[in-house]
Formats: sequence, C-alpha cells, structure tokens
Amino acid sequence: MKRLLIADDDAGMRAALEARFQRRGWLVDVAVNGTEALAKFRAGLHSLVITDVRMPGHDGFELMREVQTSSARTAVILLTAYGCVPDAVEAMRNGACDYLVKPVCFEKLELAVEQVLRRAEEFGKDTETLIGHSPAWEQALDCARQAAATDADVLIEAESGTGKELIARLIHRLSRRRPGPFVALNCTAFPETLLESELFGHARGAFTGAVGARPGKFETASGGTLLLDEVGEMPLALQPKLLRALQEREFDRLGSNQTVHVDIRVIATTNRSLEAAVAEGRFRADLFYRLNVIPISLPPLRDRAGDIAELAEYFAGLYAASGTCGSPGTHAANVRLSQELVARLEEQAWPGNVRELANFVRRAVALSRGGEIGVEALDHGKTLRGKISPLRPPASPEWKPGLSLGEMERQLFAMTLESTGGNRARAAELLGVSLRTVRNKVREFGLPSRDNYRNGLPGNDGRNNNKEQPCP
Ligand SMILES: Nc1ncnc2c1ncn2[C@@H]1O[C@H](COP(=O)(O)OP(=O)(O)OP(=O)(O)O)[C@@H](O)[C@H]1O
Ligand SMILES: [Mg+2]
Repeated sequence: MKRLLIADDDAGMRAALEARFQRRGWLVDVAVNGTEALAKFRAGLHSLVITDVRMPGHDGFELMREVQTSSARTAVILLTAYGCVPDAVEAMRNGACDYLVKPVCFEKLELAVEQVLRRAEEFGKDTETLIGHSPAWEQALDCARQAAATDADVLIEAESGTGKELIARLIHRLSRRRPGPFVALNCTAFPETLLESELFGHARGAFTGAVGARPGKFETASGGTLLLDEVGEMPLALQPKLLRALQEREFDRLGSNQTVHVDIRVIATTNRSLEAAVAEGRFRADLFYRLNVIPISLPPLRDRAGDIAELAEYFAGLYAASGTCGSPGTHAANVRLSQELVARLEEQAWPGNVRELANFVRRAVALSRGGEIGVEALDHGKTLRGKISPLRPPASPEWKPGLSLGEMERQLFAMTLESTGGNRARAAELLGVSLRTVRNKVREFGLPSRDNYRNGLPGNDGRNNNKEQPCP
C-alpha cells in the first residue's frame, strides 16, 4: 500500500486531507509540526509527503530538503501561503516536487499528486535511498547539499565502500543539472591508451580498430555531471590533458584537432590521499588543486556505528523484497535481524564499510529460511570466505592513537590477506576494494606473495622487508 505523510499544524486541514487520501487507498501518517514530520519520515520513507510550509519547529522547506536528500522516490507537495510562493519556487528546483497555494482545491491537489508521483518514479529509477542519521553522516550530507547548490567541481575523498558514488549522484540530483546526464567513469577500469579515448573520445581511424568516430565521457556528460572515480589512479601521462579539459572545459578527441567544448560539473573520487600522491610524484599538484575546489570527506562506517542497525535493517528489507536472494517471495515479509545480531554487527570494524555490511546482510538473507536471522549468520561468513572483519577495537595491539593512517592501512591489508590465506580476490571482496587496489597495496607495502601464506609465512603481522619473496 502506498504511504503518505501529511504535515500541517492546522488540525482541520490535517483531518480533511487524511480522510480524503485514506478513501483513495493510501496509508496515511500525520504530523502536527515539522519536527514530528521529520521523525516520521525517517521511520517510514513515504512515497508522498504533503506539507505545510510554515510550521513550528522545522518548516516545510527543511522537511522537503531531508526528503530530497534521503530518497529520490519520494514526491513532495508544499502547501504555501501566497506570500511564500517565490521561496517555494526557489526551494523546489526541478525535482519531483510541486506547490499549491492555500486555500487548497482538492481536485488540483489530486492532479498535482498524480504528476509528482510520476516524476518521482522517473527520477527514482536509478537512484538509491540514503540511510543514516549519525552526526558524521549528517555533516557529510550537509557538505553535499552545499556543493549541489553551486556548480563547482567536487573532490570526494573517502575509504572504499563508504558511499562516494552515492554522494556524487546525490549532488547531481540536488543540483540544477538534475535533468542532464550523470556519467561515471572508473579511471582504473581501462589501460592508459583506452582511458584517453574513453575520456575524450576519438576520431575515425585514430588507432587500430577505431572504425568510427566516438564521443568520450566528457562529451556524453555535457549538460550534466561527470564522475571520475578513483581519479588518483589516473596515469601521469594523461593528467595534463585532463587538467586542460577541467580548466578550459575544452579538449580534442583522440586523432582530431577539432576542439570540443562542454558544459559539465566534474566530481572526482579517491580512496587514498591525493595530497600523498602529489608528494610521491604520482599526481600533478596543479591537477589536484584544480579538482579540489570543494573537498568532501565521508566517514568510514566504524565512525558512524550508530547507523549500522538502520543500514543493516534497510538492506535486509531490500534483499528480502527483491527476491534475488533465498527462496523468492516465501519469506520476504518476515525476514528480520535479531537484536543480538544487530548488536554484534555494531561492534564489527567493517573495513569494507557499507558495501561489506550490505554484502554480509545479502548473504545472511540468502541463507536464511525466513523469520529471524540470529548471530549464527556471523558463522556463514567464516565458512564462505575465511572470516568476517575483526571486531572493534582491532585485533592488532598495534592500533592505538598516534598510529599513522598509512601504517594502519598496511596492517589492515596484511591482516586481511593473512585471513584469506593470501587469496587476493577474497581479500578485495572483504575490504570492498578492487583486485587491482589489493595488488597495488601488496606492492606498495611490500607484503608477502601468495605462496608464502600457503607455506605458513609470514610472521605475525605481515611486516616484511623482502617484497614478493621467491617460492622456497
Ligand atoms: N548511506 C547509505 N545508504 C544506503 N546505501 C548505502 C549508503 N552508503 C553506501 N551504500 C551502499 O553501499 C555500496 C557502496 O557504496 P558506493 O559504491 O557509493 O561506495 P564507494 O565509496 O563509491 O566505494 P568504492 O570506493 O569501492 O568505489 C553501494 O551498494 C551503496 O548503495
Ligand atoms: Mg565508487
């Protein structure tokens, strides 16, 4: 059943709307002020919110902002006094929102409902819901909202699996570029020669196999937002061309000297410090400064453990309902996580962050026979892929305040590889990073080769000075 939230401090208006929409088959929640409305929305994620603008506590604009941030699938209708119309228009941008001037004509309201629901469905198709209300996550969302209000380039620096892509999509969705395309390119997904053509396109005959001309991602993103994922992995040779494209918003396709102009916002992401990459000479300083116009960092899941329960329950509902796990339909409605399990999940370190938690819940739902999922689900992880992340505080006694992030990262890779017996693919899955990242880290930190794990090496923490050791 579709769920509606009505927020109005006028009791008569609330009752009239509630009765009308209940008759039309809606499940209706009502709130007498903005604060109650916010709490009810967070608990219910409604498909439609009808809200008065002026209310005690949080006003209708704040409620709309929260709804737009949390879920593209939710439509909002503001009921506003005549004097507030300019504010309402400004607040709505072009999302799945509408406003009606009070006194409200119900026929007009129903027409508006139909239209905004249709738009929300369109927008919601490829966007996910954002879960979490911990202070650290709220702060990150605030930065994203502020960035969305500008057209400046953004650099999101955060660990793997923390939601960088989700935040990039949110910025696009809340920005004036929302009607335009959102195009993503993972800079690690292509070898250097192909990456240039993926970014900037190529002319016919530019290289062997280039049978026709093709636009690159910079061109296809024009009018919208371009996400450059893992920009820190961009080969040095390509960086000057990227710098020019960012500065001038123009470039040449490969094998052509015809300049192409584009209108885009670039959002770049990285899961390791670009400043460190600059210091090591792997990343151009001028490119870093050009990308770093609005820096946003996202908290790792261990720094927002207060969100773990909500996230886990959200994923359980999502995977149970999707029918892609377990026996479809048989237990979708009654799958839930036991309190004890949730408490244990809250204690885990989650080095692979939200992605690792989502994968854990997906597996637990898949292996459950419906009903309550208990702490035994933690053992499935052990059987299937070695062991799940260590508990917080981490197993290694060396993790204490003052330890550098680099050293912590080294130990984490070492510990994880140790737990998988040197299996890098499994380590990548556990850590929520690409196989290539694991390979790079093994090289960077001089961690032992696969064979050494099988043969009972390395010592205890993987600290190793002899790089990839030859097989004995
Ligand atoms: N707050 C959140 N609410 C709901 N789902 C989330 C949230 N944060 C992350 N996820 C989910 O976790 C997964 C990882 O998120 P995302 O791909 O955005 O992370 P990332 O930082 O880009 O990871 P990587 O560095 O590995 O590319 C996705 O499936 C995403 O939908
Ligand atoms: Mg990503």
